[in-house]
Amino acid sequence: MFMEKIFGIDLGTTNSEIAYLEKGKPVVVELEEGKYFIPSVVGLDRKGNIITGFEARNQYAAFPEDTVVSIKRMMGSGGTVSMGAKEYTPAEVSSFILKSLKEKAEKSTGFKVEKVVITVPAYFSDVQRSDTIKAGELAGLDVVRIINEPTAAALAYSSADNSSEKVLVYDLGGGTFDISLMEIEKGLIEVMATDGDCYLGGDDFDRALRDFLRSFLPGGDFQKEDLKRDARLKNISEAVKIDLSTQSLVRVEESFLGAYKGKPVNLEIDVSRIDFEKQIEDELERSFRLLDSVINTAELESSDIDRLILAGGSTRIPKIMDVLREDYGFNVHREIDPYFCVVMGAAVQGGIISGEELDRILVDVNSHSLGICCLGVSPTGELNPDLYSVLIPRNTSIPSSMTKTYYTSYENQKAVTIDIYQGEDRSVDRNTFIASFVLDQLPGKLPAGSEVDITFEYNINGLVEVSALDRGSGKIEKLEVDINRITGEGKEGKPNKAVIDKRKIKRVIKTAGKKIGKLNDSRLELKLEILDTIKKLEDAMDLDDTAGCEKLLADLADLLSGIK
Ligand SMILES: Nc1ncnc2c1ncn2[C@@H]1O[C@H](COP(=O)(O)OP(=O)(O)OP(=O)(O)O)[C@@H](O)[C@H]1O
Ligand SMILES: [Mg+2]
Repeated sequence: MFMEKIFGIDLGTTNSEIAYLEKGKPVVVELEEGKYFIPSVVGLDRKGNIITGFEARNQYAAFPEDTVVSIKRMMGSGGTVSMGAKEYTPAEVSSFILKSLKEKAEKSTGFKVEKVVITVPAYFSDVQRSDTIKAGELAGLDVVRIINEPTAAALAYSSADNSSEKVLVYDLGGGTFDISLMEIEKGLIEVMATDGDCYLGGDDFDRALRDFLRSFLPGGDFQKEDLKRDARLKNISEAVKIDLSTQSLVRVEESFLGAYKGKPVNLEIDVSRIDFEKQIEDELERSFRLLDSVINTAELESSDIDRLILAGGSTRIPKIMDVLREDYGFNVHREIDPYFCVVMGAAVQGGIISGEELDRILVDVNSHSLGICCLGVSPTGELNPDLYSVLIPRNTSIPSSMTKTYYTSYENQKAVTIDIYQGEDRSVDRNTFIASFVLDQLPGKLPAGSEVDITFEYNINGLVEVSALDRGSGKIEKLEVDINRITGEGKEGKPNKAVIDKRKIKRVIKTAGKKIGKLNDSRLELKLEILDTIKKLEDAMDLDDTAGCEKLLADLADLLSGIK
């Protein structure tokens, strides 16, 4: 039987790759001799023709004004970039990269490249996602699905067995840092928490190293910004950085970076790995703080993580692996080259969609039920204002759409508030509140029990459109929720993490301070005990330890109750 190939594309900030599934295994396409990626760079050559990839990157230092880099950061912004005299939208610029991937892959594999899965960062908004789809269309591609990069990375690693595991993906690419905590169970991937920084990546490391190199040049003009020289220094820095991943010392010898006091300026220095690590210390630290926060959000400890997957070219920097392995004790995996792990996962997804044989079930399902709060009658016959009514139950394969009818609760009701929740409990207060909107200006004299239709439309990119329709008047209100952005809270229907009321705690501490002032020396022991509890309470507050604070507040109240 003829099977249509669906290719996977990683449209990166710095580099892009394309892959497909062959006999159940992902194959990354060789795009040029020995090259399995192309730089995500677009330019105009001297004749005014569009050029892409290595050719465009090579001219960046000489013609920065005719070259566009890191266009991914502008996706969905509504802005434009100029090359030569013309303006281009980010989707247009990206389409040139996609078109180039398509053409090169067709030439290299002999297959037609039409249907594709494209990956995007987990935090990409709806607008950014649709801009990505538009770029695909402009390149003559049929974008059958957009998937999140960390999910793709996990797909590349996912095993056929039925084991259940918690996987953390640390994806540090050229322009963005993405961290995702996932639970894989029987081939189903559930995102538990995500975080990231769209301005953290290899580009920043290159810039940091460039500034370091620039500090060895003479003063005056050399310390000022200069488009051409900076572009050249940045190229040098990237090459040095890459060498430093395998060597501990790199010799830089660059001649004629300009003239100073009538003499040519050359750069001749040795850069050590330690020098480099110092330059990027703050950035790496930031990435580890984000990682901590993801683990905390999921209420886990690093020892609960079964494996940590490294994705993105920048994770080839040895320091990253060292910290994750030694300081955190993670079981770090990078069997699959981090450079290609995302594109390989995209190819796996493409294979799944096209129905290729895979000995694992990998389908997209929603990991938590979604519903609204409504007034209901409890089993004991009482009215319950906090009843949770589910529209899309967990593990429903997506895309999925569901409409349910609800009724206004009193006569002449002017508005209906739709509170959206995620979770599994029958009562909304034990689920995660997501968003709320109002369907108002209902027509006058509406009888109680008038019908309001609520629709949840969960699309494949993790966006849920919730709409409320007053059937009588046809009035409709909508709200779009990005499910990717709310994961991590209220996992398995647990309530949102309670917020610590620090002001209240400080008030209690102040009162306690006044009270112990009244204690005479015969009660020294109680005094010390109270002081000790206050100290612990302050520590718990600093650590945002909600449960700890609650317990200590109760202890403190107990101790204070003994004082008049
Ligand atoms: N050996 C290496 N050591 C350090 N950095 C490297 C190495 N090889 C590649 N890089 C860096 O990896 C980055 C590119 O990684 P990758 O291709 O994963 O990013 P991307 O997918 O284009 O970006 P993003 O994920 O941010 O959209 C570049 O900054 C590059 O300099
Ligand atoms: Mg990437």
